[in-house]
Amino acid sequence: MKIAIPKESRANEFRVAGTPDTVKKYLDMGFEVLVQAGAGLASRIPDQAYQQAGAQIVPDIAATLSDADIVLKVQRPQVAGEQGVDELGLMKSGAVLLGVLSPYADAESLQAYAAAGITACALEFVPRITRAQSMDVLSSQSNLAGYRAVLDAAYEYQRVMPMMMTAAGTVAPARVMVLGAGVAGLQAIATARRLGAIVSATDVRPAAKEQVESLGAKFVMVDSEEVRQAETAGGYAKEMSDDYKRKQAELVAETLRKQDIAICTALIPGKRAPTLINDEMVHSMRPGSIIVDLAAEQGGNCTLSKPGEVVEVEGVKIIGHVNVPSRLSADASALYAKNLLNFITPLMQDKQLKIDWEDEIIKAVTLTHDGQVVHPNFKA
Ligand code: NAI
Repeated sequence: MKIAIPKESRANEFRVAGTPDTVKKYLDMGFEVLVQAGAGLASRIPDQAYQQAGAQIVPDIAATLSDADIVLKVQRPQVAGEQGVDELGLMKSGAVLLGVLSPYADAESLQAYAAAGITACALEFVPRITRAQSMDVLSSQSNLAGYRAVLDAAYEYQRVMPMMMTAAGTVAPARVMVLGAGVAGLQAIATARRLGAIVSATDVRPAAKEQVESLGAKFVMVDSEEVRQAETAGGYAKEMSDDYKRKQAELVAETLRKQDIAICTALIPGKRAPTLINDEMVHSMRPGSIIVDLAAEQGGNCTLSKPGEVVEVEGVKIIGHVNVPSRLSADASALYAKNLLNFITPLMQDKQLKIDWEDEIIKAVTLTHDGQVVHPNFKA
């Protein structure tokens, strides 16, 4: 059995799906591990480190993929018709592909996976159940993104975050508002608090209140009957009604004009990110304020953010970096690689891959198998 760890090919991707630590574990399980030369360089892992762990370094992508039984990716592979190498075309029929495959953003690739006979598993669909916590790539990566968002804000903010009392005068602490208090939002709150900011946060899920307050931040939210049903069984938010959105906009507008920094993290799985900060709200912020829009790639929580850019509107800087976990690639890769290892470990029995197709986790992540699109959300 061979596991392949190719170099990621998509723009702004600096992570890698395996590390020397996980390579050792795969070897112990009985796998042979092939790593494409240079795969880990952008995550500060030289080829030599993989080699010392026991992996075989392979010079090019074709040799890495062509005989692999399992392919470990961060982002979805390139397919025919895209610029660059057709990575999917290099994989053998029957191979298992693991990665954050973003099927909502690219439903057409599913047909290509099925036609190529690939068993494609989208790790972002791992259910939020206790057994799967260690495989949860969204959590491991969002946590880092929340941390980095605050540092990116601090970098652009031309003031300090904590209160400073000096002989030359007192500097007031920054006021930070976090919109969306899920995994990224809670880490953003914790990071901003550690830097000494005064933090408030909002969410549509009432469960977030206690978590926000336990981190020492103030929770503000629109209280209505609707929020009692705002959380899905999976722990995610639902899209809210127009009436709720209007009330929430009033609350955000009122709170935001007193803030120095806004960190936006609100997402709704499979949908465009909710709009929480409109043009008018941006204009109401003081010059020198910062907005970080972690949802920029999913349509943005702020109407004026531009994916991949830092724009300035009347003195307010709006940061729309894409793939924020990749801005901490070394740690992001280490955690992501561990998530994949934790996914694969229970599938191996007596040095053989034995997948239980009825297992709750497997059912949730499998997009294509045996030449068919099998995931209920994408079946024709
Ligand atoms: P996410 O990335 O889909 O969304 C981020 C946050 O935005 C969520 O808290 C969501 O409620 C919020 N949001 C969505 N629409 C909003 C709106 N219109 N206004 C304000 N906020 C809005 O969610 P994430 O961070 O992946 O996880 C959500 C929750 O799932 C966590 O807080 C946690 O309770 C649960 N979870 C459970 C895990 C487990 O049990 N294994 C692991 C990770 C998370």
